[in-house]
Amino acid sequence: MSTTSSGIRFDSVTVAYDGNVVLDALDLTVGPGEVMALLGPSGSGKTTALRAVAGFVRPASGRVFLGDRDVTGLPPHRRGIGMVVQQYALFPHMRVADNVAFGLKARKTAKAEIRTRVAEALELTGMGAYARRHPRELSGGQQQRVAIARALAIRPDVLLLDEPLSALDAQLRSGMLAELARLHRELPDVSILYVTHDQVEALTLADRIAVMDRAKLRACGTPRELYRAPTDEFTASFVGGANLLPVTVGTGGVSFGDAEIKVDTGGAARGASATLCVRPHLVGLGDGPNRLTGTVGEIQWRGATHRLYVDVDGHRVMADVRELKAPPAFGESVSLHFSSEDAVLLPAGVSHD
Ligand SMILES: Nc1ncnc2c1ncn2[C@@H]1O[C@H](COP(=O)(O)OP(=O)(O)OP(=O)(O)O)[C@@H](O)[C@H]1O
Ligand SMILES: [Mg+2]
Repeated sequence: MSTTSSGIRFDSVTVAYDGNVVLDALDLTVGPGEVMALLGPSGSGKTTALRAVAGFVRPASGRVFLGDRDVTGLPPHRRGIGMVVQQYALFPHMRVADNVAFGLKARKTAKAEIRTRVAEALELTGMGAYARRHPRELSGGQQQRVAIARALAIRPDVLLLDEPLSALDAQLRSGMLAELARLHRELPDVSILYVTHDQVEALTLADRIAVMDRAKLRACGTPRELYRAPTDEFTASFVGGANLLPVTVGTGGVSFGDAEIKVDTGGAARGASATLCVRPHLVGLGDGPNRLTGTVGEIQWRGATHRLYVDVDGHRVMADVRELKAPPAFGESVSLHFSSEDAVLLPAGVSHD
């Protein structure tokens, strides 16, 4: 089913259920061999976007392209796509090998070829030794590998993964994350669209992240771009924790309560309201540039760091501080600081209420 060109392109794809728009004019391109994470809260339209690519839902308007093929009108089985859904959906009465062979049999692939491909897919997912087992004789993680093997057996150009790790416990999840990264290295030409609401998965696996919010694409960029230089509050808080401080633009910086903060204000007008985004791990305890003073409202020990919640002018500022031998006491007055380069000025509250 391989074509010479791969990749996925959403061209203004809108999906509605009973007149309710759940995917709103999505424009997004996943390059050949690229891993794109679709990240967003529950109900934001992630699965719907995936189903539009797979052909399980028909857009009300817009087109879906795989490479240069317009597949909008094609049935799912003619799209050459591998898909793994959240709940594995293995056939319980079939052995592992037959589960993996399923898509190939449906395509009337020759028997010898099926044997080769099944072995290859099971090998890729580390399940070579389990071909004769039934799904009930496998752990959750192993079942998920089989589901991935089944998706890979047809040698798809495009792999769609819908929260593939969400049913696994935390430890297994991190092991499977590493497995998926390895799999991608072994199949560098396969484009992957990976749905998750877990930012760690998105930051770890994806070449780029598309952030979804209430049926709309909010932002798209490399993990580093979205983390270091988010363009809106929703993205800033969804990709990593963020302090979002209401500030007023001055000259050469902003003011936050009594504090003057030096930051690049771009073209923002003097006197305008804006939001200053600073990541908690970039906020230090003690005196320094861009000093804020407040009282400690809460302290959480998190192993490698202490998270301090400091009340500054009626706002809670989070600071993740490492190597804190003697943490300040609750109610103690403290100073916080951060470098100007670590702060990003965002438009005030445009995205979220
Ligand atoms: N078959 C359907 N009929 C009617 N509404 C639907 C249908 N499928 C999804 N929806 C609605 O579309 C919206 C988007 O759903 P979708 O499954 O794409 O969200 P999601 O981002 O994948 O969420 P989650 O993280 O919970 O899986 C939701 O409001 C959902 O209720
Ligand atoms: Mg979903």
